[in-house]
Amino acid sequence: MPDSVVQARSRRQFLQFLAGSPLLAYGGGAAFAGEAPSKLPDPMMWAPQNLEELIKAPKDAINVFDFEPVCRKNVPPAHFGYMASGIDDEVTLRANREGFLKFQLRPRRLVDVSKVDMTTDILGVTYPNPIVVAPIGGQRSFHDDGELAVARAAKAGNHLQILSTATSTGVEDVTAARGAPIWYQLYATNSWEVAQTMIKRAENAGCLAVAVTVDRAGGRNQETLFRLRATDTRDCSGCHDRSSLQSSMRTRAMYQGIDLSGLRNTQSSAMTWDFMKRLRDTTKMKIVIKGILAWEDAVLAADNGIDAIIVSNHGARSEDSGRSSIDALPEIIDAVKGRMPILVDSGFRRGSDVVKALCMGATAVCVGRPYIWGLGAFGQPGVERVLEIMRVETEAMMQQVGAPTIKHLVPAMVRRA
Ligand SMILES: Cc1cc2nc3c(=O)[nH]c(=O)nc-3n(C[C@H](O)[C@H](O)[C@H](O)COP(=O)(O)O)c2cc1C
Repeated sequence: MPDSVVQARSRRQFLQFLAGSPLLAYGGGAAFAGEAPSKLPDPMMWAPQNLEELIKAPKDAINVFDFEPVCRKNVPPAHFGYMASGIDDEVTLRANREGFLKFQLRPRRLVDVSKVDMTTDILGVTYPNPIVVAPIGGQRSFHDDGELAVARAAKAGNHLQILSTATSTGVEDVTAARGAPIWYQLYATNSWEVAQTMIKRAENAGCLAVAVTVDRAGGRNQETLFRLRATDTRDCSGCHDRSSLQSSMRTRAMYQGIDLSGLRNTQSSAMTWDFMKRLRDTTKMKIVIKGILAWEDAVLAADNGIDAIIVSNHGARSEDSGRSSIDALPEIIDAVKGRMPILVDSGFRRGSDVVKALCMGATAVCVGRPYIWGLGAFGQPGVERVLEIMRVETEAMMQQVGAPTIKHLVPAMVRRA
């Protein structure tokens, strides 16, 4: 290609990039309306991520975002769309990232942070870091090794792993690959018999806790999924039997061997606090509720003897309320007053995000899409590197706020911007 064409093309791409950049939201836009800007933004974005230059190996990644375009290239459009999608206008999806801008960390100096210890206790078990692998369904749709690759990567960094009800591999094999007990995430379905059978199976596999997801009570319009799926030219019927709910679920690892005749919905829109009481009488596992966003529900969880909650909007996949998890976290921590551990997820991509939540009082942070980007990009080594980047950034941020241990992360280190 002649140099002049390359230059014109890259200039056009750069202007297009800036047109989509948050810089425009801060007034840089007018200057870039034409081809000849009279004023440059400060800071200048000298090195925007070039989506045409993909990393070739996990070690090349500078941040977790470097994995996403590689995942996009490797993974079929319908599966990538399933992963990336939010709901409707994806206001919550953006809020999950922008929410972190509403909070600032307050760096502190002259503290010996030459050694940082990120050891964290989560429901009585000690982990060397507070970063948890969030439950994500059907991981074999991103890489053949799916949940097993993720379990091995979680083992390498010694992370707590939460396994989805919609897992492509059974809880026993994933636990074996992780080499330590995991948590099982439960979609209760409309059928107590189905839920009970899964809970027993998870308990027998040695799971420490059941995390009941409560935020999928209604329908959802996953526009990005539907639009990308429409571009997928493969024949999906070879893998997805959509002739009935039973036939589509029967292939799922955790539904196998269960009588599914009463199954009408894989979610439950009828679930109330009575379900939690029933669950308590059924299992010895700890009970965690995933998907709390209002302090009133957090207080009810503590009143009902729930062992922990996960403050989460499901990675903006349940509703488009516009409320980010990090925005919801402070009022929940205030209201719960230390009566149970509080985990949080949705939009965590940076060590500074993790440290903000821990300073507010969260016990641990669950990470979702980023490790799927790593999985889709490079399999297990990709997941390992994503988790490693998250750990390294978290450690660096702890040093910057002057916290040699997790206990040293306190509310005074974070304030509303
Ligand atoms: C592709 C995908 C599938 C998911 N599947 C489940 C699931 O089966 N059960 C569940 O409780 N949460 C599920 N989640 C939500 C995650 O557990 C977590 O709350 C969310 O991904 C966190 O947000 P993040 O992706 O911005 O990190 C899923 C998320 C994604 C992206």
